[in-house]
Amino acid sequence: MEQSAHPYRSVLYMPGSKERALEKAKTLAADALILDLEDAVAPAEKPNARELVGAAVEKGGYGSRKLIVRVNGLETEWGLADLARASKAGPDAVLLPKVESAADIQRVAELLAEHGAPERTRIWAMMETPRGVLKAAEIAAAHPRLEGFVMGTNDLVKDLGAAHTPERTPLVASLGWCLLAARAEGLVCVDGVYNAFKDEDGLRASCVQGRDMGFDGKTLIHPAQLAITNEVFAPSADDVALAKEQVSAFEAAEARGEGVAVVNGKIVENLHVVTARRLLARAEAIAALEAETAA
Ligand code: COA
Ligand code: MG
Repeated sequence: MEQSAHPYRSVLYMPGSKERALEKAKTLAADALILDLEDAVAPAEKPNARELVGAAVEKGGYGSRKLIVRVNGLETEWGLADLARASKAGPDAVLLPKVESAADIQRVAELLAEHGAPERTRIWAMMETPRGVLKAAEIAAAHPRLEGFVMGTNDLVKDLGAAHTPERTPLVASLGWCLLAARAEGLVCVDGVYNAFKDEDGLRASCVQGRDMGFDGKTLIHPAQLAITNEVFAPSADDVALAKEQVSAFEAAEARGEGVAVVNGKIVENLHVVTARRLLARAEAIAALEAETAA
């Protein structure tokens, strides 16, 4: 299935209670913003954050950055009010934490409809519990309004009883399983955060790993993480040049009535051309977004 045309290289969390961060985000090079009402907001601040985020979404000024509101779980005392307020504001998406079944997504879809949320407001799911990961395939297919998964790797490490290691070997099974489910249904899939936000080498390694696994991008906690993440998740100039060469070599082969071409000593078949064209489309979408963000 075709994935979203909008890039999701960098998806920056910000506490919904922090007016300054909400304002600053309008100038940051993030492909998407998660305006958080859940874990980044203390209980006493929840009602205030709900209103700040609702008003920020209504006022806008975020250009082409996608706005995703993370609500509290619907079983908490705040979740339903968060969803009602978000429905009224109409962000690009609402993100539900700790999703564990298709029914969780279907309930959010019902509530969005009930509260009259605009059609364009999609649903995103946090994949961050063992039960949720095991049900990833069922969740991914739950509802047409579902657009993406966000990996909640800190919660996963906690619930697995695993350790945070540089290679993330303890998480590979969960990450891969959720990616499989997301790709099977054409969903966007965004990797978890890198906690040590001043460690640039560590961040880069984590981005490269996520990119090579197939993630669209990474969730971030600090603006200092944006540049590296945007760079790693964008096709490089060499990638673009190679893709163009593959497409033209294949087209020339086709014109000769042949089904395969060779570029740099490697075979190029129809399926490689699909990948090359997808890469070129992605590079174009990123260039368009960056042109708008810089304007
Ligand atoms: N989004 C937008 N702006 C942010 C930001 C974020 N996530 N994190 C920091 N900033 C802004 C600050 O407001 C500050 O702006 P200013 O210069 O206009 O005052 C600037 O970036 C520098 O911030 P800094 O002083 O380096 O960070 P901090 O010590 O204030 O905050 C954290 C560090 C980790 C607490 C903060 O980055 C944060 O809250 N991150 C998000 C955490 C979160 O949402 N977690 C939930 C999901 S894991
Ligand atoms: Mg969490």
